Amino acid sequence: MKVFIDTANIDEIKRAAELGLLDGVTTNPTLLSREKGNFRDNLKSICEIVDGPVSAEVTALDADNMVLQAEDLSRIHKNIVIKIPSTRDGLIATKQLKGKGIRVNMTLCFSPLQALLAAKAGATFISPFVGRLDDVSHVGMEVVEQIIQIYENYGYETEVLVASVRNPLHVVEAALMGADIVTMPFKVIEQIVKHPLTDVGIKKFLADWEKVKKD
Ligand code: E4P
Repeated sequence: MKVFIDTANIDEIKRAAELGLLDGVTTNPTLLSREKGNFRDNLKSICEIVDGPVSAEVTALDADNMVLQAEDLSRIHKNIVIKIPSTRDGLIATKQLKGKGIRVNMTLCFSPLQALLAAKAGATFISPFVGRLDDVSHVGMEVVEQIIQIYENYGYETEVLVASVRNPLHVVEAALMGADIVTMPFKVIEQIVKHPLTDVGIKKFLADWEKVKKD
């Protein structure tokens, strides 16, 4: 399973990268709005830190302008992947961008049918938002399971990128289901890196070792 970080914060990206687990980055307009400086420079810096797909999202709502924005964003760096919302115009833009060799991550996906359409349009990635589904009492991971099943049934190559992850259980479930990628906020990466029983075990071993040295 590939691991992406869901942030536009350079410090968080560097700290996750040094753990050796980062395969890519997802950003969105909200995440970029939290960072100082020019968003294009920030995206370029991210691409220089992580040698993998870095998602940058369009803000246009119509297909023609989505394509224009996508072409512009993709000039920032070869690692840039274009995030396009799972809408009617988004599908049209995705199909056109596929024809131009520009990779698309269809985002804001909340149903298996949106994922089916994304695959047919030629999206490289589909991003089901599990946390936001959980927020409205719809089990987000069930949607991921359905998408994986549908893609397996027909051999679609679109990769399932589990997004809007809120806790380590989302990550465990995604891995058990065989999701291709999970994108996590830095907080969740920190949570999965640390286990309290490992810390307790180290403390006990060190305390016992002190006794050995005294003997
Ligand atoms: C994914 O690509 C999105 O940027 C992100 O996962 C959204 O997460 P949120 O629902 O916590 O905002």
